Amino acid sequence: MHLADKKLLVIGGAGLIGSHTVDRLLDEDVSVIRVFDNFTRGSRENLETALADPRVEVFPLGGELLHRDLLREAMEGMDGVFHFAAMWLRHCQDFPRSAFEVNIAGTFNVVEACIATGVKRLVYSSSASVYGDAVAEPMTEDHPFDNTNFYGATKIAGEAMCRALHHRHRGTDQNFDYVGLRYMNVYGPRQDYRGEYVSVVMSMLDRIERGLPPVVFGDGSQSYDFVYVGDCAAANVCAMKAETTDRFYNVGTGEKTSILELAEMLLELTGSDLTLAYEPGGTTFVRNRVGCPRRAAEEIGFTAGVELREGMQRLIEWRRGHAGEVERRREDAGVPG
Ligand SMILES: NC(=O)c1ccc[n+]([C@@H]2O[C@H](COP(=O)([O-])OP(=O)(O)OC[C@H]3O[C@@H](n4cnc5c(N)ncnc54)[C@H](O)[C@@H]3O)[C@@H](O)[C@H]2O)c1
Repeated sequence: MHLADKKLLVIGGAGLIGSHTVDRLLDEDVSVIRVFDNFTRGSRENLETALADPRVEVFPLGGELLHRDLLREAMEGMDGVFHFAAMWLRHCQDFPRSAFEVNIAGTFNVVEACIATGVKRLVYSSSASVYGDAVAEPMTEDHPFDNTNFYGATKIAGEAMCRALHHRHRGTDQNFDYVGLRYMNVYGPRQDYRGEYVSVVMSMLDRIERGLPPVVFGDGSQSYDFVYVGDCAAANVCAMKAETTDRFYNVGTGEKTSILELAEMLLELTGSDLTLAYEPGGTTFVRNRVGCPRRAAEEIGFTAGVELREGMQRLIEWRRGHAGEVERRREDAGVPG
């Protein structure tokens, strides 16, 4: 879809990836960027710069995904929709019924409203969680769905609903096009302490700031594909511009980094001479995951551009300039100060 003069709705646009996507969209010649968010996790601070642009608005009547009439009202006249709103991994694990309502029924509400209001294109936020632990590396989009947690289950359900409803209406005047993005491990400015696997970065930086050795759980060999949040925003814009439909794409770098390597990098970037502390643990949902970035490059023209070292440097700088915000995020997540 050409973005010139287009009106776009960003559901969950006050959150981490959503707010960066809003920022990124400002570089395009779009006419309206409407944020629809209930602010359970997102914040106005995340949108501070964007809201200075007259094309950006927070939908004034409401922002709850489960309020179907308001959602539909927000979608009237929109050309494209980004759907980021979801409960996060641990929250889904602890509250599966709410996760069912928000992530699954909420996504159904989004697709239903897209079809009813004639929205041309949806970019759905899925997750690399659909894959579970890698049985083959790097994981292509054809990797089996070996997920075992409820969050991943909701993302699989979201993908399947998009696909089924696309096929149901294909070729009719209710045609609905979509693509789904499977982000790897997203990090960067505005991140909080709740992301599985990446919250460890914030905790390590907290300890380094206090002169305490950063803690590595287990042997630190757990390895992930860390992707910078600004790159995820770029992937969303690419996905909205693309013509492909009914396709899913990994959003990652294709590079694998262990927690141990990451911890050493953080010490170096902060100029710290501390040494690492090892503690038992390191039991997470997934221990090994790197995604193949090829399909996204070939079909939607997205390639991650920010290297881990550069991205971590930007995160460190953001923390330095936003100490109060970081403190609030720490408190919100119940992390001891
Ligand atoms: N951050 C990651 O590492 C990562 C990895 C894979 C997939 N994802 C997926 O990408 C999407 C965006 O992730 P994020 O890290 O930006 O999450 P986030 O929690 O920062 O943003 C989600 C936004 O949705 C809003 N929201 C939640 N429930 C809502 C509801 N019922 N109605 C309206 N708004 C609601 C929140 O307030 C928040 O602003 C999510 O769907 C997430 O599952 C994220």
